[in-house]
Amino acid sequence: MSVLAIDAGTTGVTALVVTEDGRIESKGYEEFAQHFPEPGWVEHNPEDIWQATLSACAAALRAATSRPACLGITNQRETAVLWDRRTLAAPRRAIVWQDRRTAGICERLRSAGHEPRVSELTGLRLDPYFTASKLTWLAEHDQGSWEGVLSGDVVVGTVDSYLIARLAAGARHVTDASNASRTLLYGLASGSWEPELCELFGVPESALPEIVPSYGPIGRTDPGVFLGLDLPISGVAGDQQAALFGQTCFRVGEVKCTYGTGSFILTNTGEEIVRSDAGLLTTVAWQTPSGDITYALEGSVFVTGAAVQWLRDGLGLIGTAPESEAVARTVPDSGGVVFVPALTGLGAPYWDPEARGLITGITRGTTRAHLVRATLEAIAFEVRDVVEVMTGGSASDGAGSAPASNGAGSAPALKADGGASGNDLLMQVQADQLGAAVERPVVQETTGLGAAFLAGLGSGVWGSADELRETWRLDRRFEPGTRDDAAYERWRAAVALASGSRR
Ligand code: G3P
Repeated sequence: MSVLAIDAGTTGVTALVVTEDGRIESKGYEEFAQHFPEPGWVEHNPEDIWQATLSACAAALRAATSRPACLGITNQRETAVLWDRRTLAAPRRAIVWQDRRTAGICERLRSAGHEPRVSELTGLRLDPYFTASKLTWLAEHDQGSWEGVLSGDVVVGTVDSYLIARLAAGARHVTDASNASRTLLYGLASGSWEPELCELFGVPESALPEIVPSYGPIGRTDPGVFLGLDLPISGVAGDQQAALFGQTCFRVGEVKCTYGTGSFILTNTGEEIVRSDAGLLTTVAWQTPSGDITYALEGSVFVTGAAVQWLRDGLGLIGTAPESEAVARTVPDSGGVVFVPALTGLGAPYWDPEARGLITGITRGTTRAHLVRATLEAIAFEVRDVVEVMTGGSASDGAGSAPASNGAGSAPALKADGGASGNDLLMQVQADQLGAAVERPVVQETTGLGAAFLAGLGSGVWGSADELRETWRLDRRFEPGTRDDAAYERWRAAVALASGSRR
């Protein structure tokens, strides 16, 4: 028996066939187009996401010998999608989580004094990152599409809901609790859409999907539209929560970091809704079929791997992202160069949408190797900033300390995954900077693996979380060495400049 998992990410869709012993039997991947109609805007065509899903799944299934028993879905979160309830056609492009066009709407609501109540209800912040202000923007700027929403012909959702609608040929309009908790419309304590928030953002509740648990009977694929397959859809979660599940971080205090375009650090806080006043988000990790919710604290860092891509595509300093390791290793340190990759503002723990990127400490002796090494160091510093506030440290100036779920002052081993976790130099610098071990599993595609685990648990492929834990295999553990605190202090000073440079 095996499980098919779809990981509908920001730049492409990955499909995995995962075996009962937690191995990846086969994989398919398909990129789709990114649209940047104006500076700071990012859009996706929903039809492209669906077509990429079909291609990726077809490729993974072609290369597999086993027949999947069920399907799991994980996805880029927060992205706002509209589609016709009947035809499933999208009347317009989706507004992606990275899109900053709604900074003004968020500011307007903040000035009107709404932020404390919104944060209290949702565990999030008034930031363009989340879904709700994107819907407000559509209501205010795309009347053609929004009329359909008001009349009930067009529905609203995130990428998980859209894909389930397509897979089930319109039979289901659902989202799981982990995805719902990223919209700014979901009440953490109530576990449902909050009418007060729907009204504030101008979103008709009737257009929103039904909220379902993260595993169990969620829907079925329609063979007429999905490669001739009739499969139970039995697992759904947002990609970062799925990665927490895939890393089998089932115990309170266990923490993972997924190194992708951005880096997302999540720690399991169990049944407790732990709130942070230090720039972390409170979010649903997953919901069981009996309705029990596990929560997490999250630090969302927007640009990490994307900074390496910028070295490659923007500056031409490296030919491929993995080459960054070899180039950085040609120098012992960054030679005093600090790069703050605030290329789309700063996320956790600083939350400054107006911050801009900055490179300091350049001298006549600076080479491309120093700049590449400074970029890898920046990723490690950004993650250290978040982990410090998670464990009761003080990375965020002026902010209080986050309640530590895992013992203030001591960082547990960080479970690393995602593309850049394959970079040994980055992993070592990360362990040094955290003063804690970094553990990299054999399977680093942990988002897709988590979706497979959820679906398999929901369909009886696996009987318990303990069985899943047994499939986790360590590839390499990076022990902390000497910590370069002077470099970290230079980083903190440069972040203050990047954030202040707009004023
Ligand atoms: O919150 C955004 C996150 O879900 C995006 O993840 O891996 O698609 O960049 P990714």
